[in-house]
Amino acid sequence: MPIVTAAEDLVVDDVYVDLRSVLGRELYLKCENFNFAGSVKLKAARSMLDDAERSGVVTADSVLVESSSGNLGIALAMLAASRGYRFVCVIDPRANPGVRRMVESMGGEVVLVTQLDETGGYLGSRIRAVQELCEANPDHVWLNQYANPENWRAHYRHTAPALVRQFPSVDYVFIGAGTTGTLMGCARYLRDLAHKAKVIAVDTVGSVTFGGAAGPRFLPGLGTSRRPELVDEAVVDEVVMQDERAAVRMCHRLAGRGFLFGGSTGTVLAAAERYLKDLPDDVTAVAISPDLGDRYLDTLYDRSWVEERFPGCLSPLRRAPRHELQKTFV
Ligand SMILES: Cc1ncc(COP(=O)(O)O)c(C=O)c1O
Repeated sequence: MPIVTAAEDLVVDDVYVDLRSVLGRELYLKCENFNFAGSVKLKAARSMLDDAERSGVVTADSVLVESSSGNLGIALAMLAASRGYRFVCVIDPRANPGVRRMVESMGGEVVLVTQLDETGGYLGSRIRAVQELCEANPDHVWLNQYANPENWRAHYRHTAPALVRQFPSVDYVFIGAGTTGTLMGCARYLRDLAHKAKVIAVDTVGSVTFGGAAGPRFLPGLGTSRRPELVDEAVVDEVVMQDERAAVRMCHRLAGRGFLFGGSTGTVLAAAERYLKDLPDDVTAVAISPDLGDRYLDTLYDRSWVEERFPGCLSPLRRAPRHELQKTFV
């Protein structure tokens, strides 16, 4: 068992769920939530901050500032607390209320942006607010997760090597695209290894990252209303666009087996299930899960929130009969 002294030192890279009991076929889910920030974003946050400290961009008196509607904000709040920096997190009204409370609980400050940008989203307004804060305050440093190469390098150095160590002959890797840090890092690692695995990017319908039309999206984590600087389609084998209704259903299906995952995990798995349907049973597939569902109790796991945004999507939580489960596990 690891013993840590700093919150940031717990990085768990070797937990997988075999989803046969839920999907009826082999698919391994790499869980990125087992750290004190509760998500995959700890890796990007640590890598960006380490690099900024090494290069002298961040010094002892710096104030970290970032635009995040969720996990990166929490990860940076944790790192800032661990290393003794002030941290300002710019969020918007769509951020989960728990995010604000978690950031503030760890001593971070929150700036709420309420003005919609020209695309009808908030990302542009949040980025403008960050830029204004940095212009007005020379000690403020923006790590900029959308453009910072240390975001993808974290996954090149850690996530992808861990995955290949566990599944050396993996055939398909399914990765959700937000800033595309996880996707780019893993895809570049596999390409540089000349590995046979196909990298399948999963994005949400309504996201503009891969050239689609902007549209409403409700699940945080995946998709953008402004193309992230990090994205490079050339290193990805295929892009699968996934609608959020099936993602919500997938989350509820998983919850019915005791796996309470976040919305982006449901999106990636809904896409993976669809993609794998026509492939032989013996392909080895791995999907990456960015976080758990406890952050989304007031949204994804709240019946009225779901009913309002995804009418007709709810079904009673279905428990598998015991004899069915026992069959799965023999
Ligand atoms: C819940 C969740 N899923 C997926 C992602 C996407 O990861 P990336 O930004 O590496 O593309 C994020 C990023 O913040 C996230 O918080």
